[in-house]
Amino acid sequence: MVVQGKVIWISGPAVKAEGMAAAKMYETVEVGEARMVGEIIRLTGDVAFVQVYESTSGLRPGEPVYGTGLPLSVSLGPGMMGKIYDGLQRHLDIIAKKSGAFIGRGVTAPQIPTDELWDFTPRVKVGDEISGGTILGVVPETNLIEHRVLAPPDFPKSRVTDVVKQGKYKVEDVVVTAEANGEKKELKMYHRWPVRIPRPIIDRFDPEIPLITGQRVIDTYFPIAKGGTGAIPGGFGTGKTVALHQVATWADAKVVFHVGCGERGNEMTEVLVKFPELKDPSTGRPLMERTILVANTSNMPVAAREASIYTGVTMAEYYRDMGYDTVLVADSTSRWAEALREISGRLEEMPAEEGYPSYLASRLAEFYERAGRVRAQGSPERNGSVTIIGAVSPTGADFTEPVTTHTIRFIKVFWALDTALAYSRHYPSINWMTSYSGYVDTVAKWWLVNVSKDWASLRAETYEILQREDTLKEIVRLLGPESLPDEEKLILEVARMIKIGYLQQSAYDAVDTYCSPVKQIKLMTLLTQFHHEALNTLKSGATLAQIRGMKIIPRMLRAKFDVKETELDKLDAIAGEMKEEFKALIAQEVAAVAK
Ligand SMILES: Nc1ncnc2c1ncn2[C@@H]1O[C@H](COP(=O)(O)OP(=O)(O)OP(=O)(O)O)[C@@H](O)[C@H]1O
Ligand SMILES: [Mg+2]
Repeated sequence: MVVQGKVIWISGPAVKAEGMAAAKMYETVEVGEARMVGEIIRLTGDVAFVQVYESTSGLRPGEPVYGTGLPLSVSLGPGMMGKIYDGLQRHLDIIAKKSGAFIGRGVTAPQIPTDELWDFTPRVKVGDEISGGTILGVVPETNLIEHRVLAPPDFPKSRVTDVVKQGKYKVEDVVVTAEANGEKKELKMYHRWPVRIPRPIIDRFDPEIPLITGQRVIDTYFPIAKGGTGAIPGGFGTGKTVALHQVATWADAKVVFHVGCGERGNEMTEVLVKFPELKDPSTGRPLMERTILVANTSNMPVAAREASIYTGVTMAEYYRDMGYDTVLVADSTSRWAEALREISGRLEEMPAEEGYPSYLASRLAEFYERAGRVRAQGSPERNGSVTIIGAVSPTGADFTEPVTTHTIRFIKVFWALDTALAYSRHYPSINWMTSYSGYVDTVAKWWLVNVSKDWASLRAETYEILQREDTLKEIVRLLGPESLPDEEKLILEVARMIKIGYLQQSAYDAVDTYCSPVKQIKLMTLLTQFHHEALNTLKSGATLAQIRGMKIIPRMLRAKFDVKETELDKLDAIAGEMKEEFKALIAQEVAAVAK
């Protein structure tokens, strides 16, 4: 590595260096005697603007800057699963051990373990043709994840000349040798990829398959598709983190990436403590066996936070390329945007709205554009997806601020958390009037084919009740409840039942924390049948008070807690009892009239 230039100016994580004419944009450099990792983010003549990923205190003008010729990259291979990384894919445990502190300066930790032995089973043989993305072999990475070792995306079409036998190897061992145009190339169990460049794909598919989260308000009303994009904006303490954890735990994705940009140090610590305790629901194994965390606490340098979302999404794309559905949750993108703002400010760039740089929008777009359900490169043919969900935490829950408004332009699902709902302990506090999903029509067919022909109609019918309630509430506010006819009062009653019995869902209740698609359909059916029966019963002369007093109502509202996934028949029994109770009400009326 050669000395290229020298430091002339330092402001926090931003450093200017001169004599950098040979450097490239986004090249990684090592700054100062301590050889701190940095990245060139602007080049003007021979002056490079470097964002440094470590604390620059103590760095002095005149210290050397070394070029590496390489862009900021991550190592992709077995050993990543279950790790906790910083924004530069440095393994946090290792760093903690080396430096004693949480993260030290100039400490370089291997990104993936180099001394661990992996049980490699080849999937290619001598004479096979391979190219970018070909599965070279497989490794059981954890109990839950089979790691498919891939030829690097830019690997040329070559013929295999040598393959190791099945056995134990380290990531640095050569496992396959291939030849193209007389040139031999050696392949190991890992390769590197620059974080700011999307990994290539063959084809992109429509977002037709929902990512089932087991959260009713999401799956039913505001579904997200596999490969889709969503944002969850909300004021302080409205439930963003809990919602993302629910998605991470329950979504039917194979691999989960949690990129944490905490404002408070303890918030990230919470994640670091909590995640390792979570269990994978379908196997009971630790969730970390299929999770990778990228953590930035407030005491870490801001530039590493800026890089973290790219590091996270590049790792997600890699597991997508293996043929897996992955989901990346980022909590919170507002803290990430603040890192961007701070660095831009240090570089004295012309600020746009609220001090954010003018490129805030394009950076957000670049991040969300990396979501998608795709056909991966290489053989055998396989599909995978990256779903991206970002929390946004606007100060004062003001959704007109720049990070929220720009994010809205690039996402398809908007789960608007509502301070008033959270305050009244209606969780998840997703506001059903202001949230939306652009995937409702595209995922409807999946529900029809896989769960029930009634999803779309049940959804529309119950949603209409919620919408009518919203308008009626206004009338009630102006004229009082007595101004409404019974049929409309019934709407208010059924809307209340939908809110309590369906929209509200406790993340902490053992049964309610996850609601399967079938249970969602059955609960909605129960609610709409109740509405139909109640209307009929009103017509036969029963009073609204009689209907409100029905014994079945509390049982319907508790069904989400009481009926386990293994005993969904009980919901049919409740439906039967409901009908009986209505019948009895009508019979009572008929008898009263006959007297
Ligand atoms: N689905 C839920 N079920 C039960 N309680 C919930 C649910 N969602 C949120 N809560 C409650 O709301 C509290 C705050 O949630 P959370 O920490 O997710 O908010 P946040 O929006 O991430 O806050 P911050 O702005 O501090 O990041 C939780 O501790 C929990 O008590
Ligand atoms: Mg939070």
